[in-house]
Amino acid sequence: MKVFCTRRLPGRALERLSAVHDLETWDERLPPPPEELLARAPELHGLLTLLTEKVDADLLAAAPSLRAVSNYAVGVDNVDVEAATARGIPVGNTPEVLTESTADLAVGLMLAIGRRIVEGDAYVRRGEWRTWEPDLLLGHDLHDATVGIVGFGRIGRAVARRCKGFGCEVLHTGRGGGTPLDELLERSDFVTLHAPLTPATRGLIDADALGHMKPTAYLINTARGPMVDSDALARALHEGQIAGAALDVTDPEPLPADHALLEAPALVVVPHIGSAARATRERMADMAVDNLIAGLAGERMPNCANPEAYGAS
Ligand code: DGY
Repeated sequence: MKVFCTRRLPGRALERLSAVHDLETWDERLPPPPEELLARAPELHGLLTLLTEKVDADLLAAAPSLRAVSNYAVGVDNVDVEAATARGIPVGNTPEVLTESTADLAVGLMLAIGRRIVEGDAYVRRGEWRTWEPDLLLGHDLHDATVGIVGFGRIGRAVARRCKGFGCEVLHTGRGGGTPLDELLERSDFVTLHAPLTPATRGLIDADALGHMKPTAYLINTARGPMVDSDALARALHEGQIAGAALDVTDPEPLPADHALLEAPALVVVPHIGSAARATRERMADMAVDNLIAGLAGERMPNCANPEAYGAS
């Protein structure tokens, strides 16, 4: 069957896919433009996408033979899952395998911003370091801090385990309850986001939410950029309303070079690398390929974001 994969993937998983299907891979560094996807859609049976591609209702409508979509990510907010379900198209994703890598990065970002690691590196490289000084680059400890985890699924729990190892008090809020969000924001020294992007979580951390945080607190986002109102965050950082932020994800992504956030003090920003450990990305590729092969065979995907698609159409 005709399959399109929107980028080369680490490891050898795509070799397995091309052994059983007619695979074309987009070899550019940047994503295929939407028109390119639309032009290819009519003949496709399978689509393996990244979070950078929008698989919307228009694209699905242009692909009458499409049988399966496999997303190389745990999040599927780039896919119109409802429209896929209505067509009986299963949408695969890659949960669990990236949980620990993403949790590692979240804790790394807490330390990076709290202990001013990136700032220190830049200071030394600029040749400004003269001597050990009692008040040079003073920051805040992670150990014994109160960490507020927003979204208590697999990744949120993995962050909680790590923070308990640091002797932190851990608060959480999520679909299953926990501490009310306002109270969590008011009490936490580090607020870290781990919820999926949904209509309920889009813009969750807005000016009002930031206003509930302590002036000494840090915001960490390794979930999805649009959970945070970027303009409100830039204002809060410029006005010293919170102590800092460390972001793996942003809105928009990437941030344009002249975005107010990049001018803000006390900000660490990295390019959406939560799952970017070689072994993790190779396992994600294997999972994405396994999902697509199963979907094309009309079998249950090992990891499917919309199992109800199997009963539809
Ligand atoms: C995901 O999987 O959703 C991450 O954001 C990228 O690995």
